Parts: sequence; structure tokens; C-alpha cells
Amino acid sequence: MASDAWQADRVRSATTTIFAEMSALALATQSINLGQGFPDTDGPDFMLDEARAAIAGGVNQYPPGRGIRPLREAIAEHARRHYGLSYDPDSEVLVTTGATEALAAAILAFVNPGEEVIALEPFYDSYAASIELAGGRRVGVGLLGPDFRLDHAELAAAFTDRTKALLINSPHNPTGVVLDRADLAEIARLAVRHDVLVICDEVYEHLVFDDAEHLPLAGFPGMRPRTVRISSAGKTFSATGWKIGWALGTPELINAVTAVKQFLTYVSGAPFQPAVARALNEGDEWVARSRAQLEDKRNRLAAGLRTVGLEPHIPRGTYFMSTDVRPLGYADGVEFCRDLPERCGVVAIPHQVFYDRVEAGRPYVRWAFCKADQVLDEAITRLGRLNEARDLALVDARGTTPRDVP
Ligand SMILES: Cc1ncc(COP(=O)(O)O)c(C=O)c1O
Repeated sequence: MASDAWQADRVRSATTTIFAEMSALALATQSINLGQGFPDTDGPDFMLDEARAAIAGGVNQYPPGRGIRPLREAIAEHARRHYGLSYDPDSEVLVTTGATEALAAAILAFVNPGEEVIALEPFYDSYAASIELAGGRRVGVGLLGPDFRLDHAELAAAFTDRTKALLINSPHNPTGVVLDRADLAEIARLAVRHDVLVICDEVYEHLVFDDAEHLPLAGFPGMRPRTVRISSAGKTFSATGWKIGWALGTPELINAVTAVKQFLTYVSGAPFQPAVARALNEGDEWVARSRAQLEDKRNRLAAGLRTVGLEPHIPRGTYFMSTDVRPLGYADGVEFCRDLPERCGVVAIPHQVFYDRVEAGRPYVRWAFCKADQVLDEAITRLGRLNEARDLALVDARGTTPRDVP
């Protein structure tokens, strides 16, 4: 039997992700990778030093299953300090292998085959895979272009008697939308009315710009007992490769997530745990500076994209920006992204791969701006070549040669 025929049905759609495909293309063509969302600078020095010291000091064996107590305390204290939410570090906090594991473990812990999970569409790619692994059914509620707003009526209509959970990501990847108080109040009202669980993916909680404010759903009336709050150190502290995440919730909810987590990975990254604990306790100033720098980078990339004829949707959170690529002569973002590395040496991610309703995402492309200023500038210079090529094509179409152009 061919080895691909051995694959279980439940993993058939979990093929190579678009991120892997585009990152490989970036390498092969030596392109600037504005596709995958990882920063090109590291987190605070004191955090990196702490991890080095932990390795040198012998913190290299299995840590406690729920995470070391200083980290669980730091996670609980962070929730109290920033949002006024109180969690017991012993029974209401679980350290995981990135937010990805917390999400997978929560979905596997609560979703039975055939049950529905409502999620904001476009979806971060691990949601679709995890819901499928659990045998659940995802139901998308659109944050659709051009303004990517939550439609409250569509959300209310998405509930059925099979709805088990809501999976809410704000700040939202890939649109950069930060749900506002009215959106969150409506989500909370519907969750309570339908008595469903809510899983919140808050990995971009600190990456918010302008006057946007991240408000955890767990703080809304009726939500604390039904919400699993998930976040991680990756985005906040520029350490996406460390994969230290966490889940917060009532002891019952966290026990269920822990039961799954222990058989996925058992424990998570021992030497990184004390370092992340320190970053959570002492890193607020570093995070504030990093957020201000990201806001400048957002503005820099937005201005650059405008110069090449792409009008960006300005994100209020995350480090992603979206554009409609039709002004550059493409109807399809996948086609655009597959051509881009060869044509001008830049990589972006097509929105389409985050949608069930592929049509809704077809013309949009996502650009990551968590990169050095000179990298962003060089990307814009390269993108400018698309216009030069187009101008030449126009000249050719008029029957003249490029040499005729003054
Ligand atoms: C919305 C969202 N959730 C979760 C993750 C994964 O987080 P982690 O690296 O902590 O597993 C990402 C990473 O890009 C993301 O964008």
C-alpha cells in the first residue's frame, strides 16, 4: 500500500501548511519572508540570560506536569495586574507547549465527534486541524474584507443545538482586528444564553495599537466559569521558538485540559519556564517598548505598500497587515503569493488558506511587519519592481518597446 493511503481520514486535510510551503519558497528564491509571523529580533536580554543560566544550572529534566510554580504564579499575577482577573496558580493554571498545544488539548478535552465549534473566519490554521482531530465540525463566522468587522447577526445565527464551544481569537490573526467591548459583550451574552464553553486565543494580547485595548472575554459577566483563556510567551516576548504557553480557567476546566496535555507532551520546556516567569514579572517596560516599535513598523509597511499601489487594511493588533491584491492585476491571492518570490523576491501569505468560504478570502494577502526596518524597506523596494514590470507590460501592449519610454 502506498504510504499516503495509510493516513487516517482525520489527518487528510492536515497537509503541509501554507507557511511551510511559502517559507521553503522564500529560502529557495532568497526572498524576504513577510509570510510567517516570527520577529527577526530576540526578546529581552534578562530573559535570554535566565534561560542560559537555567541550562547551565541543570534545569534540563522533566519539570512538574502543570509547569513550575514560579511560572504559574507569574502567569496568575500577570492576569491580575493587567486585567484584574484572579486565578489560583495551583488549580487554575496549566503551562503548555505553546498556545498551539493548549488549543489542541482544550479542543480534544471538550469537543465530541459531531459537535460544533464556532470560530472567527478566517481561522488560524491549527484550529481547523484540531477541531478535525477531535471529530468536531467548525462553523465559521466571518470577519470578512474589506473592513473585517464581526457581524453580530451572523454570530447569533451560527448557534445550533450541536454548538459545544466558541473559539475566539482577538487580537485576530490574520486580519489584525481587535474585538471591541460591544463585540465581546455580544459574544458573552450569546455564550451565556446558549450555555457553551468559550476558548479564547489571546496570544497577541499585548500587541495592540492606537487606542485599541485588549479585553479578555473572561472578564465579562457570566464568562469566568465557562472560559479557557490561552496565551503564550512567543509573541509577547519575541520567543516564538520557545513554545511556552498556558491555559487558565476553573479547576474543572483546567483538569480536563491537563488530562489531554499530559499525553500529548507530558511537560513543557524546563529551562524556558524560569525565563518566561521572569519576563512576565519584570518585562512590562520591554513589552511597552516593543509594542511602540511594532506600531512604527506597522505604519512604515502601510506607507510602503501604498507606494506600490496596495491599500492596506490598518490592523489595530497583531503583527499582520492585509491588502487586496486586485489593484496589481491579480484576482487570486494564492496566485499572487506563488508568483511573488520569482517576480520580485518577497513572500506573503494568501488569506484564502484561512477560510472555508474561499471566495471571501480570494483577493487578500497577509504581510508580517515584525521585521527590521531595513528588511521592510527592502521588501517595498522589491515590490516596486512589480509596478516597473507592469509599466513595461503596458508599454509592450501599446506596441512600443521599453527603449521608447523616456
Ligand atoms: C492566533 C494564533 N494562535 C496561536 C498561535 C501559536 O502560538 P504558539 O507559538 O504559542 O503555539 C499563533 C501563532 O502564530 C497564532 O497566530
